[in-house]
Amino acid sequence: MTAKRMTTVTLQEMKGRGEKITMLTAYDYPVARLLDEVGIEVVLVGDSLGMVGLGYENTLPVTMEEMLHHVRAVSRGIRLALLVADMPFGSYQASVEEGVRNASRFLKEAGAQAVKLEGGREVADLTGRLVGAGIPVMGHLGLTPQMVHRFGGFKVQARTAAAAERVLEDAHLLEEAGIFALVLEGIPWQVAEVITKELRVPTIGIGAGSCCDGQVLVTNDLLGLFDEFTPKFVKRYVNMKATIASAFTQYTQEVKQGQFPGPEHAFTLDEGESRRWEQLLARRRRQVKTIGR
Ligand code: KIV
Repeated sequence: MTAKRMTTVTLQEMKGRGEKITMLTAYDYPVARLLDEVGIEVVLVGDSLGMVGLGYENTLPVTMEEMLHHVRAVSRGIRLALLVADMPFGSYQASVEEGVRNASRFLKEAGAQAVKLEGGREVADLTGRLVGAGIPVMGHLGLTPQMVHRFGGFKVQARTAAAAERVLEDAHLLEEAGIFALVLEGIPWQVAEVITKELRVPTIGIGAGSCCDGQVLVTNDLLGLFDEFTPKFVKRYVNMKATIASAFTQYTQEVKQGQFPGPEHAFTLDEGESRRWEQLLARRRRQVKTIGR
């Protein structure tokens, strides 16, 4: 049986079966292809792109054009996963109309199947309009990085019963507005557990414990490619930074010492052409001598 492309409906069915959902971020074609090949179900082009790919201090400077560029590249590498594009800061806050216009671009121009929005009650209207327009929306609550200045840093949210209740209420409002899934980031697991039980749509946790219906990580964190800032919830599965640095160092040494490239990396003239080449060079040397006299 040929494998089928993941959809928002498939995720709902997975929650129904109690099957955990895997989601990771991608920002380029080769990583997207790998994630797709190993069977990751949801690929998110997160605005974490700004920090792990573009060298910004936080996610706020990321533009629509930067996101579109990377979503297009990722989309070319994906065959089966559900592709979700993150709406960058400033692309949906000014008005519902602008949010709809920008979200449509991800589906129309870049091949995304859904968008992700940060926020609760303040984005419920926009969520409803997008869903009504045929644009599936993934919600995102808790430690929403676009709120870094309001939170006074990347701080765990919903640490008090009152704050937790507000997140729970937001989750219900977003579900009523039509989200197909909800990312819960940086909140106590007890809060994520209740939200996961109460919602019909799947929750995807990052720093929200193991009770969520699925898990997401920033791929560069998991690979050990980004070490400027490592939250407690990150598990580093491999130290790619060290592996890549060692390859770069070895390359540098081999070039400096004349060990690379070796004969196996070079192209050779065949015998006949090599003879003609020697004759041609000899003629040229004779001509140079004649002219020089
Ligand atoms: O931008 C991002 O990568 C995200 C995930 C961490 C959920 O929003």
